[in-house]
Amino acid sequence: MRPLPFIFLCFFALNSLGQQTPSIIPAPVKTEFQSGSFSINKQTAILSDNAGDTATVNYLNDYLKKYYGFTLRTTHKATTNFIQLTSGASGQVVAQAEGYRLSVSRKSIQIHGNSSRGTFYGIQTLLQLLPVQKSTSLKIPAIHVEDYPRFAYRGVMLDVSRHFFDMDFIKKYLDLLALHKINTFHWHLTDDQGWRIEIKKYPRLTEAGSCRNGTIIGRYPGKGNDGKKYCGYYTQDQIREIVQYAASRFITVIPEIELPGHSSAAIAAYPQLSCFPDEPTRPAKNTAWHGDSTRKHVQQAWGVFEDVYCPSEYTFSFLQDVLDEVIQLFPSKYIHIGGDECPKEAWKRSSFCQNLIKEHNLKDEHGLQSYFVQRIEKYLNSKGRAIIGWDEILEGGLAPNATVMSWRGEKGGIEAANQKHDVIMTPNTYVYFDYAQRKNEDSVVIGGYLPLQKVYSFNPVPKELESNEHHYILGAQANLWTEYISNSAKAEYMLFPRITALSEVCWSPLEQKSWDGFKKRLATQFRRYDLWGVNYYPSLEEPLK
Ligand code: ACM
Repeated sequence: MRPLPFIFLCFFALNSLGQQTPSIIPAPVKTEFQSGSFSINKQTAILSDNAGDTATVNYLNDYLKKYYGFTLRTTHKATTNFIQLTSGASGQVVAQAEGYRLSVSRKSIQIHGNSSRGTFYGIQTLLQLLPVQKSTSLKIPAIHVEDYPRFAYRGVMLDVSRHFFDMDFIKKYLDLLALHKINTFHWHLTDDQGWRIEIKKYPRLTEAGSCRNGTIIGRYPGKGNDGKKYCGYYTQDQIREIVQYAASRFITVIPEIELPGHSSAAIAAYPQLSCFPDEPTRPAKNTAWHGDSTRKHVQQAWGVFEDVYCPSEYTFSFLQDVLDEVIQLFPSKYIHIGGDECPKEAWKRSSFCQNLIKEHNLKDEHGLQSYFVQRIEKYLNSKGRAIIGWDEILEGGLAPNATVMSWRGEKGGIEAANQKHDVIMTPNTYVYFDYAQRKNEDSVVIGGYLPLQKVYSFNPVPKELESNEHHYILGAQANLWTEYISNSAKAEYMLFPRITALSEVCWSPLEQKSWDGFKKRLATQFRRYDLWGVNYYPSLEEPLK
C-alpha cells in the first residue's frame, strides 16, 4: 500500500481529536500541520521580555477575556504550558519587519516576530486557530507557520463626513482591521456634507461645518429632505485616543483633509475660502433643500459641487494652519490631501484665478489644480510629511513626491508608476465596498455590483506594468463611502465578508490564493464574525459566481 501523504494524516488526526479544520485568513506563506495539540487554559502563562510586545500581550488578554472569559498571567520562566513571544531581527525568516514565525507544539506556543509588528501578526494567526465557540480550554492543533505580507500597505478607508460614526464604532472598526492584518486606517474626515475634526484655530469648522440642516431621503436625487439637523465631529482628544488605540494594534491612521474640491463644509464655516464668498450655496440638481438658502451652507445631498477652495493666500494660510494641527495629531508619514472631483467652473469665472494662471504661466485650470496641490505638498514636505492624493492629481502635472491613490480603475495607478511615483491601488472596479455585493440588494446602495469573488480576484499589481515597476505598488485599500450607509450595522454589512477577501489580496502570496480554498475557510470565518458580533452578508448562502 502506498503511504498516505503526511498532510492527509494530519487532517485525519485533527478530525479524530474533534477539532475544527484550521482556517487561517489571510492564507500564510507557509503552513505545516503536525501531530498533537496544545490547549490554552487558565494555567497557561505568557512569557514576554520585550517592552515592544506589551501592547500585544494586553491585546491577547483582552481578546481572551472578551470572547472566552479568562486572561493569562505573564511570567519570566516556564517549562511547559506557556506562550512565548519574542521579537527582533535575529533568526528572522525573511527581511521583513512584519514577518513572524509561529510554532505550536504539545508543550508550548512560540511566536517570533521580526519586529513587534510581526509578533502582533503572529498573535492574529494564533487567534484564528482558537475554537469559534466559547470555552475555557482552547485546543489548538500543532502547527508551524512562517509568514510575511505581500504588500507593505494594507488599508481600509472610512468616510465619516456623509455619515458620522461614533468612537465606539471607530474602535470596533480598528479591532476588525487588526484581525485581518490590515495596517492602515484611512480616515476621510472632511467633505461637502460635514467637517469632522476639531481645529482649534478655526472653531467655526466644527460649530458650523460639522452640521447640515437636512439630508435627502433615499437614492439621489431623493424623495425629499428629512429636515433634520445632522451633526458630528471628533475632538482633538478623541482623535488622539483613536490614533493611540490604532497604534496599539499596529495600525497607522492616515487623515484625509480634502482639497481643493469637496470643500463645501469648510466654505460654509469660512465663506472667504470660496472665490465667490457672497454667492449662496447651490444645492445639488433636482434635490430638496431644507432651511435657509441665502448664504453658504453645508451640503444636504450627495454629489460633486462647483464651489471649491479659491487658490488665494487666505486659503493657503488657512490650510497650512489646519495642517499644522493635523500633523500634531497624526504621526503618520502620509497626509491624504484628496484632490479628486474638483470642478473648474468657479476658477474659470474668477478673474483672480485667471490672473493667477497667467502670472504663474500655467496652462489652464488643471495647471492651477496642480499648482494648488504642489504648494500643499511643499508645505507638508517641509514638515517631514508626504502626501497621498486621488488619481486626479495626475491631471495638470503630478506633485514631485506624491503617492497616487488609483480609484477610477487601475489607469491612474499605471500612469503614476510609469512616472516613477508610488501608488496605492483602490480601484472602484474591485474594492469600492459601497457598491452592491448582490444583484438585488434590500437597502439603497450607491450602485455598482461588486460580489465577493470579484474582490478576491483582485491583483493590485496591474499586468500592464513592467516587472521593474512593480515596486511602485505599495499595496491596496478598500473604500467605504457612506452616502447610503447611515449606521454601523450597514457599514459592517457592506464590509463583511469583502474585507476578508481584501485581507488575502493584500497579504497572501499569489501562489497561496485559491477561490475554492478561500470559500472553505470562509465558512469558519462566518462563525468568527458571529463570535465577534459582526453583521455580515452571508454570501455563501447564495450561489457565488
Ligand atoms: C472618489 O471616490 N471620489 C475618490
